Amino acid sequence: MDFKLHNTDDRSGARTGELTTDHGTIQTPIFMPVGTLGSVKGVHQHELKEDVDAEIILGNTYHLYLRPGLDVLEQAGGLHKFNGWDRPILTDSGGFQVFSLAENRKLTEEGAIFRSHIDGSKHMFTPENVMDTQRTIGADIIMAFDECPPGTSSYEYAKTSLGLTQRWLERCVDRFDSTEGKYGYSQTLFPIVQGCVYKDLRIKAAEHAASLNREGYAIGGLAVGEPTQDMYDMIEVVNQVLPVDKPRYLMGVGTPINILEAISRGVDMFDCVMPTRNGRNGMIFTSEGTLNMRNQKWANDFSLLDPNGTSYVDRFYSKAYVRHLIRSNELLGGQICSIHNLAFYLWLVREAREQINNGTFSDWKEVMVEKLGRRL
Ligand code: GUN
Repeated sequence: MDFKLHNTDDRSGARTGELTTDHGTIQTPIFMPVGTLGSVKGVHQHELKEDVDAEIILGNTYHLYLRPGLDVLEQAGGLHKFNGWDRPILTDSGGFQVFSLAENRKLTEEGAIFRSHIDGSKHMFTPENVMDTQRTIGADIIMAFDECPPGTSSYEYAKTSLGLTQRWLERCVDRFDSTEGKYGYSQTLFPIVQGCVYKDLRIKAAEHAASLNREGYAIGGLAVGEPTQDMYDMIEVVNQVLPVDKPRYLMGVGTPINILEAISRGVDMFDCVMPTRNGRNGMIFTSEGTLNMRNQKWANDFSLLDPNGTSYVDRFYSKAYVRHLIRSNELLGGQICSIHNLAFYLWLVREAREQINNGTFSDWKEVMVEKLGRRL
């Protein structure tokens, strides 16, 4: 993998760059649609590529390991072959999902023991087997196995947890560096910086991660219940330590405003279920603010879904029709809103790149943050 920094904003930490993998090149800052089970919910590959213009998508180790399982993925020749997505893929390690989804979890020095949320079967994830699993899934970028403590954790808990995450990280690196990709293209491992809302822990975590000299780094453990300002402060602290010439990925974040604020603090990559999950509930994000498509307000509004939108659905469907679909629980309603939201998120990061390259990012961001906070 290769990362080239293009431009850095004079008035903020925002930067543009280009990340090259064996499955193609990604422009940064970038948003990565979430395809937990190898599918971005409700959006097929043609729309994802041709309409949304996603450059990279995400998969989840925890989910893919449980279903369809590693034997099927290996027989398919990896996730790219299995789902037909030939652009880059990143997989999360399962660290987060084991804690948010699995039942009867138990943490030990060795790893995490848990029961599947599907059938109650018992499993163990260790740093080593999570590296092997992500080798088999075959994502271009794979994540270290970490513990993601809640945003409200005490200092003592956060410190103990970080110690474990750091020892696990070293084991991930050892395993990753002593194995090879299974399908003829290269993979890269990103460490995850933890440390909750504690500045000294975040600095320690970022210094440790940076010392391992990887091709990119992730910031985890944010947007998990802490105040939003704490999240922004932690991003700033961590990005002062991470090397400037490597990509930085903020995991699981967030709203369009969160994304602009994080870009202005030097983040390059994002993922979040919000555009698809909220889309399935009929909430759409636009450059003028958010709309709840369930509202009576749209019942007789035959104007285009989003006259400023870049997607096919924005220029084809009316608000009244989409409201009707959402209220009737028609599958198409959730699909239209998901496609709209993903196209909007991809537009937002594309526009941010252009503004950074033109030297106008900070002014543009101020105007956008005000508009994005509106409820229409
Ligand atoms: N997704 C969102 N936050 C996190 C995190 O802290 N760790 C992992 N592994 N995934 C995440």
